[in-house]
Amino acid sequence: MQRVTLKDKTFVPYITSDKILASVKVMAQKINADLTDDMPLFLVVLNGSFMFAADLLKEVTIPCEICFIKLASYHGTSSTGTVTEMIGLTDEIKGRTVVVVEDIVDTGITLEKLVTLLTKKEVKQIKVASFLLKPDAYTKTLKIDYVGMEIPNDFVVGYGLDYDGLGRNMKDIFVLDKNVDSK
Ligand code: XMP
Ligand code: MG
Repeated sequence: MQRVTLKDKTFVPYITSDKILASVKVMAQKINADLTDDMPLFLVVLNGSFMFAADLLKEVTIPCEICFIKLASYHGTSSTGTVTEMIGLTDEIKGRTVVVVEDIVDTGITLEKLVTLLTKKEVKQIKVASFLLKPDAYTKTLKIDYVGMEIPNDFVVGYGLDYDGLGRNMKDIFVLDKNVDSK
């Protein structure tokens, strides 16, 4: 695997596609065992999760439904600061088991906001499946039920994750090369 340059930054190989897929498969098997009779609704958080969701759901063999959402953040005029809105949720989710599918959980702020929005909709239970987790950056107490891999607090790209819009299509994950001066 070669290093890659995206705009002003250089990234070095970090997690190979083979390792990614092996870990995704293990996660799917756990979900299959845990939620066999729940008819879960997988809520895929775009954009970053598209590749992980596709691989995961090919290995999920229990009856389920899949829906794609986007989170839009805007700064409200109130003192509460950033407000997050969920776009694209068309399915009725009251009383359902919802599995949030995330590419990465960093501080957990995004996830917490989403879970708050879902809780208001009176779901039966919320499970969270994130391919990556940065435990050193995570500031929340909410349990991440399914984690593919834990990584240090470094910036990664590929497998759906982007740097300024680029790199999402790479099948392996790359990490920012700290030895190269970055602006
Ligand atoms: P929080 O801090 O809210 O962040 O958990 C979650 C969102 O931040 C983005 N993010 C990253 N994107 N490489 C990326 O390409 C990273 O290392 C990274 N860390 C956080 C991502 O959009 C995620 O949903
Ligand atoms: Mg994301």
